[in-house]
Amino acid sequence: MAITAYQKCINPDCGAEFDRTEAIFKCPKCGDLLDIQYDWSKAKLPEKMEDFSKRWANRNQRLDFSGVWRFRELLNFCEDEHKVTIGEGQTILQQNDFIAKELGMDKGNVHLQYEGLNPSGSFKDNGMTAAFSHASLVGAKSCACASTGNTSAAVSLYAHSCGMKCTVFIGQGRIAFGKLSQAMDYGAQTIQIAGDFDDCMKQVQDVCSKLNIYLLNSLNPFRLEGQKTIMYRIIESLNWQVPDWIIVPGGNLGNSSSFGKAFKELKDLGLIDRIPCLAIINACGADTLSYLVNQRGLKWNSGWVESKEINSLYADFTAKKFSPHTIASAIEISRPVNLKKCLRSIEICDGLVIDLPDEEIKDAKAMVGKYGLGCEPASAASVAGLRRLVQDGTIDPGEKVACVLTGHALKDPDLTVNYHTKREGVLSNPPVEVPNDLDKIIDIIKA
Ligand code: F0G
Repeated sequence: MAITAYQKCINPDCGAEFDRTEAIFKCPKCGDLLDIQYDWSKAKLPEKMEDFSKRWANRNQRLDFSGVWRFRELLNFCEDEHKVTIGEGQTILQQNDFIAKELGMDKGNVHLQYEGLNPSGSFKDNGMTAAFSHASLVGAKSCACASTGNTSAAVSLYAHSCGMKCTVFIGQGRIAFGKLSQAMDYGAQTIQIAGDFDDCMKQVQDVCSKLNIYLLNSLNPFRLEGQKTIMYRIIESLNWQVPDWIIVPGGNLGNSSSFGKAFKELKDLGLIDRIPCLAIINACGADTLSYLVNQRGLKWNSGWVESKEINSLYADFTAKKFSPHTIASAIEISRPVNLKKCLRSIEICDGLVIDLPDEEIKDAKAMVGKYGLGCEPASAASVAGLRRLVQDGTIDPGEKVACVLTGHALKDPDLTVNYHTKREGVLSNPPVEVPNDLDKIIDIIKA
């Protein structure tokens, strides 16, 4: 299969192109974000999306087993021998009628895409399998990332699986314990900075360029190619029907960026007939996207984004020494690196962004625990978002919705235990304390 992939700067005033074998992560000419582009006219694509499902029958073939590489013609940027896989993407779309009922949606219309089932417990593995394949293509020997936790877990798992040295940067006190335990356990060099995610992101970029280390944050455009497959699997689970809405938490905005790209490509290729609306959910304490879009009217504008608005907000953050704060630590980010690409997705998907308080996110998390497969706090922002968008009439009960649950319930056990034992929300369900006495135990169970 001819490989026609190349890298292209998203800035329309620049538009510089680079070979797929370069590991550059930002446009060397203007500093803007890079995209992966393909010459689709030379691609050997299936006639319809259904053809991808046939690969379920070849699950002893490693690339067909992967829930990412099963769709390899849609992210064809490297030869098969470079493709790194540890069995990612075996995730499920759960139709959840209990949550539909709780939120006032019609039966059959609420679906939860549980990405916690990935090997490292979050959606990040979809991106890492792609980025590590590119790292293999360019012959990288060591890699690094900044992280609120899940990226570091995924990077360290993939790095040791393919024999690469790995350094992860985390903000002190800014990471849930499940994730920190993974980075240490998987053998990463873990650098804890006295700062937040945005500080780590800056440091890691400087370190990578000075020491020629391969960068695995979502600035890396190859990572986003892997994350497109989350959308392919959602529509596959819906029998190749496109839902009306996709709802996703917004942090560094890699997912939302890749989802818009995925749908645009499928529509342009004639593989789907319409594009769903995209709703991105920020936490109130880390609401850069929501502020810029809803208060400042920031738009993609064919790539001519008003950078002045972004720069003046960031200058204000610096002047006020602002650091974001939310219990959803995974999305505690104030300078999202994919902001511009996310604006493009909002345009492609006729999307919107809202920001929600921590209390609503915590109650939504408890609801996903009680009625679904559980998830970590940031993931529940998608369900909290659905609740809000139904309440304000943006989403109709008759519309079909897929909420992306980005991470596993056990990533952040402290928050879950506190929510229940300290009775922090409406669904708190603390243990009942009883004496070691059979009659008293029976009395309580029967009560
Ligand atoms: N949900 C979870 C569980 C995450 O870990 C992240 C990001 C997001 C949502 C936001 O996704 O960045 O694509 O908008 N976590 C990163 C990390 C930043 O370092 O683990 P996004």
